[in-house]
Amino acid sequence: MRLPPTGTIEIAPSILSADFGRLADEVAQVTQAGVKIVHLDVMDGHFVPNITIGPPVIAKLRKHSDLVFDSHLMISEPDKYVEAFAQAGVDNITFHIEVVDDPAAMVARIHDLGCTAGITLNPETPVQAIAKVARLCEMVLVMTVHPGFGGQQFMPDAARKIVEIREIVGPDVRIEVDGGIYPETAPIVVGYGADTLVAGNAIFGQDDRSAAIEALRAACT
Ligand code: DX5
Ligand code: ZN
Repeated sequence: MRLPPTGTIEIAPSILSADFGRLADEVAQVTQAGVKIVHLDVMDGHFVPNITIGPPVIAKLRKHSDLVFDSHLMISEPDKYVEAFAQAGVDNITFHIEVVDDPAAMVARIHDLGCTAGITLNPETPVQAIAKVARLCEMVLVMTVHPGFGGQQFMPDAARKIVEIREIVGPDVRIEVDGGIYPETAPIVVGYGADTLVAGNAIFGQDDRSAAIEALRAACT
């Protein structure tokens, strides 16, 4: 699977707020609601103060789902692990600019592994830091919370970076936004030029996942 071509708004449910004990069922529910992408938050307890899942869990989940696996590596040494994530079956690998010395080489490596590449930046990291590498990627992920936990408050100043990033990458790169996305905040980021909306709590924190996804879609149109 590949990221959908640009030109559409996509909702990417983040499994961070799902029931990890029933992961395949949780992913099946959002698949039924018609999403194409599922966002997999990988945390190492070092780059961020939380630990989630790694390649073994993703490889098992891969057997239960045909969705685009969008991995968000919140880890200090992505260069050590990108191959393992590709082998586990992820489609897109997004890494943090804050921990990579040669981001262009990392993008090339991800492409060689047969995956699309995403670059992301923390709320306090300036756009300038990703300006060069962003054009080499299929996706730029704008963090609108400090990475590590679901259910945090949307940061409006971080979201404004989307406008500048859209000018840099043009229309053919997906701009994904992650953190505090709800029907109230989704139209703000779409207005700035984002086309891929990660939502954890707004979807998996609700009993009716289809209704939650529909509410996000409706808010963007
Ligand atoms: C945070 C993760 C997010 C998180 C978003 O570090 O990268 O993907 O799941 O959660 P919400 O949508 O609840 O803010
Ligand atoms: Zn994420």
